Amino acid sequence: MNKRSFIRCLTAAGATLPLSLAGLAEHIARYEGAPAANAAASASSANAATPLTTQEEFWSTIRAAYRLKPDYINLENGYYNILPEQTLEAFIRHVREVNYEGAYYMRTVQYDRKKAVAARLAAIAGCSPDELIITRNTTESLDMIIGGYPWNPGDEAIMALQDYGAMLQMFRQVQRRHKIVCKTVNIPNDPKNDDEIIALYENAITSNTRLLMISHMVNITGQILPVRKIADMAHRHGVEVMADGAHSFAQIRHNVPDLGCDYYGASLHKWLSVPLGAGILYVKKDLTNKIWPLLAEAENVEGIARLNHTGTLPVHTDLAINDAIDFYQALGPERKEQRLRYLQQYWTTKVRNIPGVVVNTPADPARSCAIANVGIKGMPPAQLATTLLEKYKIYTVAIDLPQGNVQGCRITPNVFTTPEELDTLVKALKELAQKA
Ligand SMILES: Cc1ncc(COP(=O)(O)O)c(C=O)c1O
Repeated sequence: MNKRSFIRCLTAAGATLPLSLAGLAEHIARYEGAPAANAAASASSANAATPLTTQEEFWSTIRAAYRLKPDYINLENGYYNILPEQTLEAFIRHVREVNYEGAYYMRTVQYDRKKAVAARLAAIAGCSPDELIITRNTTESLDMIIGGYPWNPGDEAIMALQDYGAMLQMFRQVQRRHKIVCKTVNIPNDPKNDDEIIALYENAITSNTRLLMISHMVNITGQILPVRKIADMAHRHGVEVMADGAHSFAQIRHNVPDLGCDYYGASLHKWLSVPLGAGILYVKKDLTNKIWPLLAEAENVEGIARLNHTGTLPVHTDLAINDAIDFYQALGPERKEQRLRYLQQYWTTKVRNIPGVVVNTPADPARSCAIANVGIKGMPPAQLATTLLEKYKIYTVAIDLPQGNVQGCRITPNVFTTPEELDTLVKALKELAQKA
């Protein structure tokens, strides 16, 4: 079916453009039965029966669900994922509803509604609703654990140079306040195997180590780390593990308890496409009483709720989480993950071996998904980002890790990104490498 007849079909089915949830479901139903894709194979074998991952007509309808600014190609979806129009409209409706009911809404249904949304998030995370709360973002979730941990002077914590700056800064503050020792490992961009990474963390453990932080997906390179294996190793040494799921939640499918970590935080405005300012915190059931709440409002409450400052919040965002989950589930977590990995492999395989181009993301497709990082030898990352924007109309973000191994631009496609847009990136990188 060509695109025009397909859109006619959607309209005949009562769907309005932009794509409604019903329209999305019908769209997917029409394509169901297409074989699941192997990202690496589908990127390279043009003659195989076209899997859904590479059916551009299918994805062009998903693209139509978004309002995209035509001035640049947005390859900086790692900061946050803009909302598809149907989630955005629902969010605006929630703002109106809450404003209409005012204090009545806040004093009556807000708590039950939030609880119901948190239960849906717990189902996606694969944990018990007693182990998950809604926060504002990953920073709030993880800093609450770092700051509220019952530290004693001389205790040690382990983290990586490539972890997110806000958490590293929080550890530094705790170091000054509680006289703990912070140890930092340096993660290789293309590890030989999991054992290499596990050994890095294990070598940093001593009898004083209490907490190990690990990024499930490194934010600057997109590398997926073997959290489960590291958690099992750490637990053998009596060390607790806190995972940063800012980029993994709703990008790559996983059950949080299967990661084996004790604490986990994520931002919902990233890959779940929730309006800005929503995150989750998971704490293993038997550990909730161990952490000092950042805000003591609910200190006497049992369980994870004691960590959940509520106060007066933008509750319409909580309501829009429902709509974002609907969109995510209608699109299909597996379908989304496969497409994102395909898009990343699509461009990285074309530039990885070009002299002068440095891809700072593992070549093994199982070790990354949407995000990758690329540099041009001899060109400062900020200059690369500026050139990509000014000359090629591609928006990215420059990453220049001090004393680290990552100098390049982070490239993050989304489900609306097209291969043609990535061809523009590939062309730009080839030209810049040649000049460099
Ligand atoms: C790995 C990682 N952790 C934490 C954060 C912080 O997320 P937020 O600003 O939503 O708190 C980010 C943001 O990009 C991130 O990439």
